[in-house]
Amino acid sequence: MAAPVVVANWKMHTTRAEARALAAAVRDGCRTLGPVRVVLCPPFTALGVVGELLQGSGIGLGAQDAHWEASGPFTGAVSPRQLADLGVSVVILGHSERRQHFAETDEVVRRKVTAVLAEGLTPLVCVGETEAERAAGRTAEVVTRQLRAALALRQPEAVARCWVAYEPVWAIGTGRTPTPGEVAAVHEGLRRELMALGGAGGVPVLYGGSIRAGNVGALMAEPAVDGGLVGGASLSPDEFLAVVRGTLEAKTRARSAAG
Ligand code: PGA
Repeated sequence: MAAPVVVANWKMHTTRAEARALAAAVRDGCRTLGPVRVVLCPPFTALGVVGELLQGSGIGLGAQDAHWEASGPFTGAVSPRQLADLGVSVVILGHSERRQHFAETDEVVRRKVTAVLAEGLTPLVCVGETEAERAAGRTAEVVTRQLRAALALRQPEAVARCWVAYEPVWAIGTGRTPTPGEVAAVHEGLRRELMALGGAGGVPVLYGGSIRAGNVGALMAEPAVDGGLVGGASLSPDEFLAVVRGTLEAKTRARSAAG
């Protein structure tokens, strides 16, 4: 089994000084942990300082968005090429807050995935249903549509380079989560879809939405969950390190139970 993945999404939080302190605490706390892939996604303004701090630590640097062109007249936007230049290796794309507040469509997400892949970076494609879609029993349909749209026309080798996060919109920042069984069912559907898109069995499928130290063990005990995308809990080093440790422990337990 590949090492679990834990990605921190700091959203529009932290000055550079705050980012430096948070990243240093996470880096130091991760030193003695076992095989887990940790990626920190600070805001664009803190990528430089956090990147310097993480050098040689084994912790990855991620960004929260990217434009779909390498350069050009796009005031205020940041391109995959500029992110690569800062040492970024992972880019969150299609987060529901981008879809909701910045009117990002499936087509925009698809173009961004293309651009990020072209730069040699890893797109972390987010999918998830709203509360109304869930109530209408449309979860599987919505996340499948979003995943297919984001990866449309991709060669299997490109699909294999992506990461995916299932983030129910109603679970983000609310303290509510689906049950581990519900999460597992959605992840199994996404895995089937990824296989159909080119046999990408190794693509990590992460869960995101109100992950905390107290619920991470149960969520990560599901074999279909390959790790987490953590928002609010990633802003406190102690809570985030507890989430990372909880992920690792749950996966280690599952592995030994499987013999
Ligand atoms: P949350 O956010 O952990 O604060 O719910 C997760 C996310 O939006 O990626």
